[in-house]
Amino acid sequence: MDAQTAAPGWLERVRDSARRIVSRHLEFNFASVAPHVPRGARVLDLGAWNGRLGMLLRDRLGCAVTNCDVEDHDESDLPFVRFDGRSLPMSSGSFDVVTVLYVLHHAADDLAILREARRALRPGGRVVVAEDMVETLWQRVVTVGFHVLLLLFTGMGWSGRFRRLKAWHTRFAEAGLEVETMVELGPHMGLPGWPRNVVLVLRAAETARRL
Ligand SMILES: C[S@@+](CC[C@H](N)C(=O)[O-])C[C@H]1O[C@@H](n2cnc3c(N)ncnc32)[C@H](O)[C@@H]1O
Repeated sequence: MDAQTAAPGWLERVRDSARRIVSRHLEFNFASVAPHVPRGARVLDLGAWNGRLGMLLRDRLGCAVTNCDVEDHDESDLPFVRFDGRSLPMSSGSFDVVTVLYVLHHAADDLAILREARRALRPGGRVVVAEDMVETLWQRVVTVGFHVLLLLFTGMGWSGRFRRLKAWHTRFAEAGLEVETMVELGPHMGLPGWPRNVVLVLRAAETARRL
């Protein structure tokens, strides 16, 4: 890049921090889901955004990953499927794990996502959800404030709802899913002042009854 086209120093520094945040977010997401994804699993990443989590799951755990989203920002070399927000274009029982990370509160119809995730699971499979926490008034202020900034800086709005854990349990039950494991992750990427996160590992309710 010559002197005329080079970005000013401050802009380069902003871009550098943005790149560092994206890569730290990716590692945080990998560490959040890896304990719940068996080696070699068939994984659907629903709401995959740039698709890079799928590449880590493939490269580090040997998973066969399909990325899926309502918008195509995919930067991966994995199969990508467009979701219309209502029904997934794949047959039932195709996946061992469906990951849904920080997606449900963005979706106009989170129930459709949960029902479709359940349908896409093979018997005994798991849906791994990550969400921002709003258990207390302060957590709600932090989570909503963060999403206002996200909207201003990236244009990514949210059409769904932030729910308390009890309300999520009820929502999952409406989709025929129940919580098997819940892991509180603390603030996103370990950074003070960021929304606190939780991972919820779900299984089909009939599976639970048979165990
Ligand atoms: C905050 S981003 C999270 C992306 C990624 N899962 C992550 O954790 O880095 C929310 C993602 O949800 C997607 N999304 C929004 N509504 C959706 C819907 N109804 N079904 C599937 N994905 C949706 C957006 O396009 C975006 O990629």
